[in-house]
Amino acid sequence: MYFDRSNGFPKDFLWGSASAAYQIEGAWNEDGKGPSNWDQFVRIPGKTFKATTGDKAVDHYHRYKEDVALMAEMGLKTYRFSISWPRIIPDGNGEINEKGLQFYDDLINELVKYGIVPMVTVYHWDMPQALEEQYHGWESRRIVDDFVRYAKVLFERYSDRVKHWIIMNEQNVFTGLGWNAGMHPPGKVDDQKMFYQVNHHAFMAHAKSVIALKEICPDAKVGSSFAYTPSYAFDRKPENAMAKMDYDDLNNFYWMDMYAYGRYPRAAAAYLKSKNLTPVMEDGDEDILRKAAGLIDFMGVNYYQSCVVEHNPINGVGTTHEMNTTGKKGTAKVQGVPGLYKNPANEFLPTTDWDWTIDPMGLRMCCRQITSRYDLPIVISENGLGAFDKFEDGEIHDPYRIDYLKHHIEELKKACDDGCRVLAYCTWSYTDLLSWLNGYQKRYGFVYVDREEDENSGTLNRYKKDSYYWYKHVIETNGEEL
Ligand code: BG6
Repeated sequence: MYFDRSNGFPKDFLWGSASAAYQIEGAWNEDGKGPSNWDQFVRIPGKTFKATTGDKAVDHYHRYKEDVALMAEMGLKTYRFSISWPRIIPDGNGEINEKGLQFYDDLINELVKYGIVPMVTVYHWDMPQALEEQYHGWESRRIVDDFVRYAKVLFERYSDRVKHWIIMNEQNVFTGLGWNAGMHPPGKVDDQKMFYQVNHHAFMAHAKSVIALKEICPDAKVGSSFAYTPSYAFDRKPENAMAKMDYDDLNNFYWMDMYAYGRYPRAAAAYLKSKNLTPVMEDGDEDILRKAAGLIDFMGVNYYQSCVVEHNPINGVGTTHEMNTTGKKGTAKVQGVPGLYKNPANEFLPTTDWDWTIDPMGLRMCCRQITSRYDLPIVISENGLGAFDKFEDGEIHDPYRIDYLKHHIEELKKACDDGCRVLAYCTWSYTDLLSWLNGYQKRYGFVYVDREEDENSGTLNRYKKDSYYWYKHVIETNGEEL
């Protein structure tokens, strides 16, 4: 039913937009919610841009009705949002907080009322801080059972109305920034061994949740969202082409192969073994991973940019543990893995003010690669432009965002014509929101929110940007008029 089309987007294509609990909700300590690892992390001096927090965020917790009404007016077909684990189970594995469950019940009902399909992310990075204190969170195998218990609470409560589930958001990003780059909680640096172990626990949590969901709600559609950065070899020099293969195995297929096949790419596994980085697995894990792989319905893709891969000598550049978080263009540095690869800039592509390459064709390539390698349907669960927006007399003119989205949607349409089975496209983001490390000045939304870095600034009022009206028309014409 999803693929009934001759050309372009399927008739029942889900035009959507996305968000994450910590980035929009605020109400960080209200109605019984426990503290999350992010509530803790943002309070460490120097960790976020101008010490911004999600304490208030854009106050979606209190304004969700207004936000959903704006979605309905736009004609949005699906809204992807995440649930905050510490709002549901404040200490991670103890009592269930009915008020937390009620909030998402109300949100889901509000969406359903307007015919907007709720697409729920189970984990978008905010873990109960109590689990960090009990057993160091993802570092311990104990988290797998606690996660699955939490996921089951959600499935049992909401799967009568929620049929689209994303278990993990960007497992590669929260583990990479958490255990290698030191920029996300728990802020560990270059702990490669633990990075792979943590990933194994997250894969097990994903797999067991997928299996549990299909038992509770067999007609649910499920996958996880991967932050896919497709790559180009620097040039036709064989060692650069081989570096690209290493990059893809270790940075892309390591996650997607596990979700789709339930196993690691052989070359990546061999590399890990040679470096003594192979994660500890328990008997039966491989069967569970394979079983879950056979049950997923789609590959979730968060696409922002592509990269270039060049061979990196053994004494070459490493990780700098830095990122452009200011929006001062040209401040990002080349990083890499000595002995394998590095990622120089692509002189053929423009960049955002935060030095992310803008490459619409890369989105089509993601879809083609997934289709060739896994032959799975695809949900584009995030794609968007972070930019400085200017508020002028109640209006926000953002032609740059329209331009970015238009070119990406054009390429997505070509991917559909190529035969890729794309089910949904969610822009990042619906309203403006907190960018984890970049504060409130890096804006992504169709809906402008009046607030700055300072917790006490702004009215938090909502204003439609030009891109809001543009996307409304895209939806009305099912992507025919961009
Ligand atoms: C993705 C995340 O990595 O990219 C989002 O899933 C995030 O939560 C988005 O906000 C954009 O990244 P950033 O760093 O610009 O906020």
